[in-house]
Amino acid sequence: MAIRYEHAKPLVGAIVDADKAQFADAQFADECRELLEERTVLIFPEANLSDEEQIVFSDLLGMRSDYGANMQEDGEDEDESSEIYQVTLDPEIKMDTQYVYATWFWHMDGVTAMQDPPAATLISARNVAGDGGQTEFASTIAAYETLPDKQKAMLGELRASHSVYAGVRPLLDYSIRPEDWDGTYSKFDHPLVWTHESGRKSLVLGVQMEQIVGMKMIEARAMIQRLMEWATQPDFKYRHNWQEGDLVMWKNLGAMHRVAPYKVDSGRMMHRTSLARMKVPA
Ligand SMILES: [Fe+2]
Repeated sequence: MAIRYEHAKPLVGAIVDADKAQFADAQFADECRELLEERTVLIFPEANLSDEEQIVFSDLLGMRSDYGANMQEDGEDEDESSEIYQVTLDPEIKMDTQYVYATWFWHMDGVTAMQDPPAATLISARNVAGDGGQTEFASTIAAYETLPDKQKAMLGELRASHSVYAGVRPLLDYSIRPEDWDGTYSKFDHPLVWTHESGRKSLVLGVQMEQIVGMKMIEARAMIQRLMEWATQPDFKYRHNWQEGDLVMWKNLGAMHRVAPYKVDSGRMMHRTSLARMKVPA
């Protein structure tokens, strides 16, 4: 492999040294895809890609997903900018920011919105918060692979429900009941253990987990909490301290992510593309 990188942490993350021109190169994209399977999170410091260049790179990696497109709040028809999802707390850009605030808690993208959540996410830092706003990743591939075989087998039989309501619950006053909440109540069941195309497996976890199918609620909640604690131990985590122009991509179902709290007026702006699935090498 010609790609130049070093490990961010022993079990997760690779920091890739790339020239801007490489992001338009199909072979480089193939190597990134391969490295992503191995390292779960790839960091491209100060890649400084424009929206167009991020879209070109995304298209070389796989098939783009329209995940998030239905969350564009301007109500306008699609234009060129709708191919990029803007992650910001700025109320001038996002009318309903509760979903952005929900990203302060461990989650995976799209698990409450679709049966096949995005395979990968790419985010470019357009503007960083002066204080806070770092993104943390917790590899649920590492979390799964280090479990005892007996527990892997037991978890492999389970499915869990993931809901938008559970995801925004930490933001709401405890007096607000689900029926009084004015958001979209969407819920999907997913296997607790996800098998990736490489054959590696990960745990599908996050704050949106509401219940483990067929389990008593108290047992499910205790199991979810214990799995979350297991998956977020320091060895499985990487914390990215953004510099303007950084690009980070990760296997969406191979790692949970969350953002360190930052101020509404911080100006933090991230440009996201999501991949429904990765390209299968020819
Ligand atoms: Fe996210």
